[in-house]
Amino acid sequence: MPCKSMLFSSASSLSNVSLQHFHLDWLTTAGIEVAILRLDLIDSLISGNKWFKLIEHLNAAERSGAEGIISLGGAHSNHLHALAAAGKRFGFATVGLLRGHPQETPTVSDLQAFGMQLHWLGYGGYRARHEAGFWEPWQTLYPTLHPVPEGGGGMLGARGCMQLKARICEQLNGLGWSDYDGWWLACGTGTTLAGLVLAEAGAHPVYGALAVPDDHGVAQQVQRIMEEARTTDPMYELFDASRGGFAKVDPQLLEFIEQTERGSGIPFEPLYTGKALLALKQQVEAGKFAQGTRLIFIHTGGLQGRRGFTL
Ligand SMILES: Cc1ncc(COP(=O)(O)O)c(C=O)c1O
Repeated sequence: MPCKSMLFSSASSLSNVSLQHFHLDWLTTAGIEVAILRLDLIDSLISGNKWFKLIEHLNAAERSGAEGIISLGGAHSNHLHALAAAGKRFGFATVGLLRGHPQETPTVSDLQAFGMQLHWLGYGGYRARHEAGFWEPWQTLYPTLHPVPEGGGGMLGARGCMQLKARICEQLNGLGWSDYDGWWLACGTGTTLAGLVLAEAGAHPVYGALAVPDDHGVAQQVQRIMEEARTTDPMYELFDASRGGFAKVDPQLLEFIEQTERGSGIPFEPLYTGKALLALKQQVEAGKFAQGTRLIFIHTGGLQGRRGFTL
């Protein structure tokens, strides 16, 4: 993958990882300060936490001499979208294994336009993704492609996200902050959270708002990464933010997103960032954080997926 290094150097020079004060009336009322890390602004296509989750997978692909990447996701997948865009921009092959039966969504149209080869696995076929031997037939079909787990997850995905801590530390002075008390972010696979927990090594807690219900196994996936890294005392906490299921939206959530966007001028989407912020509001109002607490909220991007919803 000769072009990976281009992606890597672009990602390394991302100076526009901007950290901004985030003013909302319910935070002010509770005396909580939040700075928002605008990963949505990194790039128009390879946006959000995807840059960071992909970097080490691309490194591994290059080390193994692969010519491209094969990965998995749904018909609105932000991960596949970023991967396909990276493949097109930097000139490596991409194959996407999709959940369910063929359907047209704005995301799927983009994947095709970016040159990603698609295979639809049905629902049962997709559920088998964690079984031993799942990748074998695909590796026979695409022997030159490197497999990347769903959502760019696993230890390599987490390692890429570790650098987020250094990115915010560079910018704290600019906010007038000498320190912070924790992170708040949406979790889909838990990979980004795991990377932050490893980077923090107990210095600050990481709070994860689960965009998926319990049975998606996020807690177990995070635990596996902690064990692999031999972290003895990881500091994180998970909160259910799924509101009845992944991608389920309700009027209260949509109203909250609309109000927040009007008040802040920052766009959110309902699957991850909107749910994460609403879960933070609920915790703040329940008294989870003491007055004066300073939190970093990560805007993990995903705005392309918003095209599937009417806001
Ligand atoms: C926009 C957005 N935010 C958050 C996440 C969750 O990230 P992670 O899978 O690292 O928990 C994802 C993907 O899963 C996402 O697409």
